[in-house]
This record gives sequence, C-alpha cells and structure tokens, in this order.
Amino acid sequence: MTTESNRRRFLRNVTLGSVAVGGVLPLAACGSDDDTPAPEAPKVSYQHGVASGDPQSDRVILWTRVTPAADGEVPVSWEVASDAQFATIVKSGSTTTNAARDYTVKVDVTGLAAATRYHYRFAVGAQRSPAGSTKTLPTGNVDTVRLAVFSCSNYPAGYFNVYADAALRNDLDASVHLGDYIYEYGVGGYASDTAATLGRLSVPPTETIQLADYRRRYAQYRTDADLQALHAAMPMIAVWDDHEIANDTWKNGAENHTEGTEGKFADRRAAAIQAYHEWMPTRLPDAARPEKIYRSFDFGNLLSLHMLDTRNIGRDQQVDVTAYLQGLAHDPARQLLGAEQNTWLATQLQTSKGQWQVLGQQVLMSRMSIPASVAQDPGVATMTAYLTALQTPAGARTPEQAALVAQPKIPYNLDAWDGYPAARDAVLAAVKANDRNLVVLAGDTHNAWASDLTDSTGQVVGVEFATSSVSSPGFEVYLPTVPPAQLGGAFPMLIDDLVYADTSRRGYLVLKATAQEVRADFVFVNTIASHTYQAVVGQSLRTLPGAGNRKVVPVA
Ligand SMILES: [Fe+2]
Repeated sequence: MTTESNRRRFLRNVTLGSVAVGGVLPLAACGSDDDTPAPEAPKVSYQHGVASGDPQSDRVILWTRVTPAADGEVPVSWEVASDAQFATIVKSGSTTTNAARDYTVKVDVTGLAAATRYHYRFAVGAQRSPAGSTKTLPTGNVDTVRLAVFSCSNYPAGYFNVYADAALRNDLDASVHLGDYIYEYGVGGYASDTAATLGRLSVPPTETIQLADYRRRYAQYRTDADLQALHAAMPMIAVWDDHEIANDTWKNGAENHTEGTEGKFADRRAAAIQAYHEWMPTRLPDAARPEKIYRSFDFGNLLSLHMLDTRNIGRDQQVDVTAYLQGLAHDPARQLLGAEQNTWLATQLQTSKGQWQVLGQQVLMSRMSIPASVAQDPGVATMTAYLTALQTPAGARTPEQAALVAQPKIPYNLDAWDGYPAARDAVLAAVKANDRNLVVLAGDTHNAWASDLTDSTGQVVGVEFATSSVSSPGFEVYLPTVPPAQLGGAFPMLIDDLVYADTSRRGYLVLKATAQEVRADFVFVNTIASHTYQAVVGQSLRTLPGAGNRKVVPVA
C-alpha cells in the first residue's frame, strides 16, 4: 500500500506540475475581427492549486489563486468539462482578480447537472492552471453517500498524509472540513517542535493578527502538495473552528487574543473571516454578512448535512471549572449557536428531506464527564484506582474505593457543548420533536471518539462520530505516561456515553450513508513525520435508523 501510494503520488505530482508550465493554447480564441493585437496577458503562476466547494445539485464553487509577476488587474478565464481531457466543455466564462482579493479567484458555476462529475481549470492568457475534479449533489432517491471528514490540520506539526490518503480514494462524494484548517501561531508556537526538521516553519513567522498575516498563512498551507491534491480531487464543504481566528474563540474574544497589544478582537475576526472566504471554496449564504457561515447541503432524500458555527456568531464566553461547579454553565440563557442560528437549525430539522440529519460542527456535543479524581490528576495511577474501584463488587469495596465510585464526574472540556448544556438540550429537543435520525460530526479535540448522544434527561437522541486530527497532537502528548491502547480502552469505562476512543493516532473519518445505516470508518495513518506512510481502518461503527435504534452499534 505504501509503495502504491508513493507511485500514485509521484504520478499526480508530475501531472499537476506539467500542466502548470506546459506550452498550451489559450482557452478561447480572441474573436477579434480587426488587426489589433490582443493585449498580452499578465505573467502569472499557479502556486496554490485549485479547489472546488459548496456543491449543490446544479452548481459548485471553483477556486484558484494566481501569483502575478507584477501587481495589477488579472483577467482569468475558466472552463468546466464533462471529461478529464476537456474535449467536451459544458460551461466557460471569465472573471478578474486583483490585490484587493489577494489574487484569489472564485466562480459559482451554475446550470450544472445533478450527481455529475466535472473537470475544471483556469487560464490567464495561455497560462493554464492545474485541473481539478468536482461533483454536484444528487437529487431524489440516493443509494449511497460517502464523505471524508477532517479537522485540525496544523502545518508545522507534520505532513498532511491524512489528506494524501483521502485524495487517493475514488469513492468519495465530498470532503467535509470541520475547522482548524489553519492555526494562528507563530514559529515556535503550538505543536511545532519538529517544524524546522520537517521544513514546515510557519509563514509568516509571527502570530496571524492582520489581514496580510492570515493571507500569507493560507498561502503557505496551500503550497502543500497533499492539501492541493485533496482539493483537486473532490469538492470541500468547510466551516471554521477557533484557530482560523485565534485559540478558543467565542463571539467577542478568544483565549489567544489580547486587546491591549493585538488590537480590537472585532478587527482581527473580520480580517480572519475575509481571508477565509478569499482562500476557501465557500459560498456565502448572505453576501452582506461574511461572518454567517452556517448552511445546509441535501444529498437527495438520503442525507441532509447542516454545517454549524459553534464559535463566532453566537457563542457566549467559556466558563472555567470553578464557575462550572457553581452551576454557571447551566444558565438556560447561555448560547453556543446563538438564537438566530438555533431557530434556523430547528427549521432545517423540521423541513429538510434527508432520512439522515447530519450536523457538521466543531466541538464535541456528547457528554464527556470524567471522574473528578482523574480530571484533577490524569494519569495511570488515578485511572487504575478508579477503574479498579468500579470493577470491585459494591460490597467488597474499601471506603476509599466507595468514595471514588461515588465522586462527581465533571466535563473534561468546557470549551465544548458540555459547557453549554441548555444549548445542547435545545438542539436535541428539536431533533426529538421531529423524530429525526441524528448523526453529529465533530473535530477540535485531535482524538477520535464515538458516543451515544444523550440529553439532560438521559434519553439517547442520536450518535456522535468525532474525527481525529490531520496533524495536531492528541492525548498521547498530554498523557505520555499512559500507553495509548490502555488510554483508549479506559476512556469508554470512565465516560458513560462514550463507546470508542483512539487518543494517539492522526486520521480522518469516512462516513458512508445508506437507507439501512450510517457507517463510520475511522482511518488512521501511522506517521506524519515522513511522506511514506501506511493507512489502516482502525475501527468501524454504525448507527441504524428509527426510534429505538439511535445509538452506536458494531458493524454487521
Ligand atoms: Fe485543533
């Protein structure tokens, strides 16, 4: 598998490289009927690949970025073909770009056929971009939908083998990115111990704060061949998490933002959001409100995907453990989505056609409460003491063991839905009211999880499949004394609703939906420190439709 992967990677790189530099014809004749020579096209190069995104049944966003030899307006033409050789062009057009949009190019191509694969490319004069492949959404009855789900791709932390592996598949309808597509830190910041060795020091070297910083950071990430390959292979449906702005973002601030020295948070957020939409193949639901990113995608009658924003638009500030123990997180007015998004989601859950209702969002929704003794001192000793007490028959427990079993459990991460229990109950109530089959996708934690989703009454309402990271480190870094297999095995015993955990491997999730089930394959790579890697499906789980079946179960 490794050898084959490398061979295909080589072929892919050769193909992309040769297209970009070859002597090629212009996409369209000039059509001039006088002798005036056509103005010479500006000299450009394509250093950041191509991308597509936000597919609907009749349209898709196409994206590229040109790097001009000199500043100025750049005319860019584009074409969409039904075949990889571009023998049959079905759509074409032209646009312009300039420094005001960082020379990014974004076209919303309409009038396409549903459930159809298309090929696309751009040109400036005779200078053609690499080609990309994309696919529109299906309508009506649909047999199967397959999505690759990603989060937390940290350039200095390692190679993007996770993207490379997904890009090599040919069975995916789209990729879904749940955020932390970039990280804001400077050189020497989070998870960058091996960045110099890997040749992946952050650009710019400082933390991203201004618009120009975020633009340069996206540009660096998009030079990555594996990320370019993923974007060129399939459409992406993306939302931001916190690091597209700053760590632990909420609506009016972030843990990693200091107003005194780093300017107004609102200015930083606006810059980050502008760069995000310039560089990502997103379609704004409301052009006047770039901060509004929540939106839906219907894969016929089979699956409706609702992409949510749990960070920017409505989140109240996080509480700390002390405040949580005082009950402050349980304020019924506390918001994670915000009132407007909450109302919108309730309407989507009521009216959208998908047999499966899938929430594409950032932070863990499941209840992740762990015993207080483990939360306060995580390690082998506290876990073993608790699990030993738990497995000892009640009548045989020592007083100390009885106290361990009786102690309260507290959420391990108050930056997740656990810090907003009323907001979680509101979403789950809407799911219950509409008798929906719910699958929640999550990222953010850098670990893989599968959980039953329960509301505050203890009723199981749906399931959550949470993907590991592309490259950011997981618990293996924070709990280095606990063997990974032991830690992964212990978590489901410590946490009531948790069914599965892998806390040491980088990976992605393949979600396969049919009328009979939604199956989650947790794919892991064995290294991000070398371009030579092996990928395995580490675990497969599923959920079945219908009341009484809405929980995580083994695959058949
Ligand atoms: Fe992350």
